[in-house]
Amino acid sequence: MKQDPTKMPAFEALMYQLLETELGGAQVYKTALKCALNDELKEEWQKYLDETTRHIQIARDLLEQVGLDADAEVPARKPVRIIGQALVQAMETALKGPNPEEAQLTAAECVVEAETKDHMNWELVGMLAEKMKGDVAKALRAAHDEVETQEDHHLYHTTGWARELWIEGLGLPAVLPPPEEKKDVETAIGAARAKNARDQMVSHR
Ligand SMILES: [Fe+2]
Ligand SMILES: [Fe+2]
Repeated sequence: MKQDPTKMPAFEALMYQLLETELGGAQVYKTALKCALNDELKEEWQKYLDETTRHIQIARDLLEQVGLDADAEVPARKPVRIIGQALVQAMETALKGPNPEEAQLTAAECVVEAETKDHMNWELVGMLAEKMKGDVAKALRAAHDEVETQEDHHLYHTTGWARELWIEGLGLPAVLPPPEEKKDVETAIGAARAKNARDQMVSHR
């Protein structure tokens, strides 16, 4: 390794954004739950909210373990916070609209947006843990191991929900819960395979 990653400004930014994304994620799920109509989706998002609440604590602990003050207001947190607030606002606006199905669709897309960032943050933490040695690497690895599979579910399964709810809204045969959830997808390649298999899943229902 050419440089110590923990000495790079991006390391501190990633750590703070990791926490800020989880904080915003909890607000996104709380609002998304108000928009959800499908009972299985509600159940899924309630579980993801509980997991995200736990991730906030994991992220806070990780920051302290790598020597950062989890409550420090650093500039890197702000864009993440603003995006999180915008997602909540988008859902609140859709909720006031005349069509509850549209609010549910908006919520599914907002969760995908939030989870895309969340998933990437943790993926980067996993990469750092793999490349580094010592106590910081150990702390990164422990945190990553606890959340990794959950983050895969949050992103890939909700992406499936967003797509299938749109398909249902368009009056086409939808697979609900989505193939990603039925096949318990935990990787990008698995998500692509599940999406590919959806045609058979529709016709064999
Ligand atoms: Fe998370
Ligand atoms: Fe997540």
